[in-house]
Amino acid sequence: MTYKVAFSFADGKTLFCAVQANEILLDGALRSGIKIPLDCREGVCATCQGRCESGQYTQDYVDDEALSASDLAERKVLTCQTRVQSDAAFYFDFDSSLCGASGPSNVQGVVSRVQLVSPSTAILHVAVGDAGKALDYLPGQYARLLVPGTEERRSYSFACAPGSSTLQFLIRLLPSGVMTDYVRDRCQVGDVIHMEAPLGAFYLRHVERPLVMVAGGTGLSAFLGMLDLIAEQGGCGHPVHLYYGVRDAADLCEIERIQAYALRIPEFRFTPVVSEPVTAWSGKTGFIAEHLEVASLMEVPFDLYLCGPPPMVESIKTWRQTQGLEHCRLYLEKFTESNS
Ligand code: FES
Repeated sequence: MTYKVAFSFADGKTLFCAVQANEILLDGALRSGIKIPLDCREGVCATCQGRCESGQYTQDYVDDEALSASDLAERKVLTCQTRVQSDAAFYFDFDSSLCGASGPSNVQGVVSRVQLVSPSTAILHVAVGDAGKALDYLPGQYARLLVPGTEERRSYSFACAPGSSTLQFLIRLLPSGVMTDYVRDRCQVGDVIHMEAPLGAFYLRHVERPLVMVAGGTGLSAFLGMLDLIAEQGGCGHPVHLYYGVRDAADLCEIERIQAYALRIPEFRFTPVVSEPVTAWSGKTGFIAEHLEVASLMEVPFDLYLCGPPPMVESIKTWRQTQGLEHCRLYLEKFTESNS
């Protein structure tokens, strides 16, 4: 049996390799050209250490000078002693360049559909066929798309689970912009799209506590990728609460898709919040931080994922601090929406 293993690095790059069942992780990485720094190979020096972000594994010998009990509790590993028992993802606190491996792949697909999902948002569907199965990424990561007819690139999170033959990207439509103008004016089914992927260090980690996901605007895209995967797996064993904030109710998109997660993900909850409603709206208004349910969050540790524009991310970070919830794990992606 072979497992797919992702190696993410401090510079935001992610490399993938196949590792045999019962194979030492370091050996699998080296065989694929990912040269994890090493020294003793005996579980003593800790040079090869990383942290398991998702998946199951065992370790052979780990010297207590190399990793302490609390390190082990944090799922730190010595790759020279680690054997994976499922698909898995590991994080390393140094740049990928140290491993002498090549970076993201260049992938090519064709536009199969442009779907207007709100007056301000479209979903670009890009068919990649079997290449989709070979395109490894973690849910939450993004691709840099070369806008057809230009030399400009724009970054978009995958709005679908890995392994799909058709990729989806949520595109915010501006009054005018390089990608907006292409999507609105020139985009045709069959157009070739070149992209660089995978990129980014924001991705779904091993789920071992309740998840609170907070999306601002098209930051929803990353969560659609994560939730599609969780739904495919029939849940993650913990409650999942998605908060989704937009300016006007008309900006909300993929609501039916989100509501359908409740049928596939046990204990899934969804709270849309509109900050400045112009269109008729009877739901929650204001800022997302005003609606996060503090009382229940105080009771159990949870993992907090944020993806959206910097003001939203900063306001939630401030909320977390003022509520004394620093013990929750925080993963975030701030994206500055391009104005052109
Ligand atoms: S190389 Fe020394 S602990 Fe792995």
